[in-house]
Amino acid sequence: MKSVRGELLYYKNQFQWWLEYEGLHMGLLRSVTKVASLLGQDLSSHRWFPQNMERRFDQIMGIETATLAQEENLDLDPVRKGQSSCYEPTSAPQFRHVMSELNIAISDFTFVDFGAGKGKALLLAYELGFKKIIGVELSKSLHQIALENISKIPQLAELSNRPVCLYQDAAIFEIPDEQAVLYFFNPFNDEVMRAVVSRIEFSLAENFRQVFVVYNAPKHRCVFDESAYFRLADSKFNDRWLVFESTPPICN
Ligand SMILES: C[S@@+](CC[C@H](N)C(=O)[O-])C[C@H]1O[C@@H](n2cnc3c(N)ncnc32)[C@H](O)[C@@H]1O
Repeated sequence: MKSVRGELLYYKNQFQWWLEYEGLHMGLLRSVTKVASLLGQDLSSHRWFPQNMERRFDQIMGIETATLAQEENLDLDPVRKGQSSCYEPTSAPQFRHVMSELNIAISDFTFVDFGAGKGKALLLAYELGFKKIIGVELSKSLHQIALENISKIPQLAELSNRPVCLYQDAAIFEIPDEQAVLYFFNPFNDEVMRAVVSRIEFSLAENFRQVFVVYNAPKHRCVFDESAYFRLADSKFNDRWLVFESTPPICN
């Protein structure tokens, strides 16, 4: 259990982060909401709390990604029920910050979002200039919303390399044989994660190359920690985001 001092230090760090990347207004709103939730009150749906500021992103882009959905309300394949997380969009400032620190030539890399939801990370990846952008999503309704969201961005209509959304189980997605940034926002449990990671390892064994895993809310980080093909390269926001980089496995 965390000590009170540990908790306070954690929130101090969080507040600094909110302040730096989301501004004073959102920093204060998030703090008030956090304190209220500790007191058993849910303020996040109050009209003055613009659904965790994600709605601002949606308003600017003319899309809808902010509304959350619990796992039980997602139309997932029955085989995967109980193995998935809820739907929640990626925070734009956090994503931009972590990606900018990768220090890579983004236009040489393919971006894959495992559990792409309504396509928010795909649009953020487009903004950064990835060579190719692919989203894999198992919920049919979320997949449809992602397609609609992408179709609402006029600049994307003309492009041959506009984000591609696949309605598919991430566990059977074939890893592109390219330099890549593979993004996970706590999409599924360790069983599915292990299936995905075996595919990544198999692909690296066939053709070793630079692959980054960006893992947001890394609940099953042990799958990467235990992999001979990855090393932890970076950690942001109190381990809320981890970056793993491919490394050639040591043969005995
Ligand atoms: C936390 S949301 C992340 C949404 C999106 N990546 C974003 O950042 O905006 C996790 C998503 O993973 C999806 N998911 C869960 N299990 C999956 C699976 N086996 N294959 C593909 N998608 C899955 C869920 O439906 C949900 O949309």
